[in-house]
Amino acid sequence: MDMALVTTTEMFKKSMEQKFAIGAFNVNNMEIIQGIVDAAAESKSPVILQASSSAIKYARINYLMKMVEAAIEEHPDIPVALHLDHGPDFETCKMCVDAGFTSVMIDGSKYSFEENVELTKKVVDYAHAHGVVVEAELGKLAGVEDDVNVDAKDAMYTDPDEAEEFVRRTGCDSLAIAIGTSHGAYKFKGEAKLRFDILAKIKEKLPNTPIVLHGASTVIPELVNMCNEYGGNIPGAKGVPDEMLKQASQNGVSKINVDTDLRLAMTAQIRKVFAEEPSVFDPRKYLTPAREAVKNTVSHKINDVFGSCNKA
Ligand code: G3H
Ligand code: 13P
Ligand code: ZN
Repeated sequence: MDMALVTTTEMFKKSMEQKFAIGAFNVNNMEIIQGIVDAAAESKSPVILQASSSAIKYARINYLMKMVEAAIEEHPDIPVALHLDHGPDFETCKMCVDAGFTSVMIDGSKYSFEENVELTKKVVDYAHAHGVVVEAELGKLAGVEDDVNVDAKDAMYTDPDEAEEFVRRTGCDSLAIAIGTSHGAYKFKGEAKLRFDILAKIKEKLPNTPIVLHGASTVIPELVNMCNEYGGNIPGAKGVPDEMLKQASQNGVSKINVDTDLRLAMTAQIRKVFAEEPSVFDPRKYLTPAREAVKNTVSHKINDVFGSCNKA
């Protein structure tokens, strides 16, 4: 292989200097990978492909590695990192480091502070010895389904002092924080609200640490409507508006994670074909527009929201 995957070190350095964010898009199959890298290449943007442990089980790690290898061979002109999303334990992180991932996330956010430090440090020691960078998480991402009172909600946000201590003690390369986002299609009951004041305090304490925003899909209303129009049932879905993501990109967030919007984009197109052309049974007839929808969604984020176009 002539071209190689890169770590996120250089792209994050540039993102902090020039105040833009890099999209980290979740991958599960060939069409999603192609849609993402085609969009990134067209916009001359760095990009992070990330796979969760369940995505790795689904795609199978050998297929995943070969597909990503093909993607970077086709697009040698843009920096591409391969990242483990929400690594649940040391063993999964080790497996990905050994397989050739250039970045891993260890998600110790469900543990106590001390347990999270210990687990993250163990992953950092192994990953760094193999030239791989590590994302860790501090704080909890609550969803609308998490029925918590205001005090409890405050306790879930990342504490800026703890963040500083956590990064110092673990040596992690980037930090995922909780400032009000959550995973999935139902992020807010009323108005969308992110704690930019907490982000600013964290950046004050950690000016040189790339900050990561999980649960950052917009839950694009046109895609939700299209899914519902063609037989879907996802009422009341709501995400983080583009304006807030733009604000985050310009104020210290270096990596923005997107999965739900890609799921919606694919599903909306597939539903449309199924509804309008019931005689179709060639998968290429619905996977082609689905792949195109992934590409268009990624293009929109890179060009209109994250500001990473022409930063390759
Ligand atoms: O944050 C989770 C990502 O959306 C991945 O989800 O574990 O269903 O692949 P998954
Ligand atoms: P969304 O569900 O908002 O797309 O978030 C994805 C994510 O955080 C992956 O780690
Ligand atoms: Zn996440």
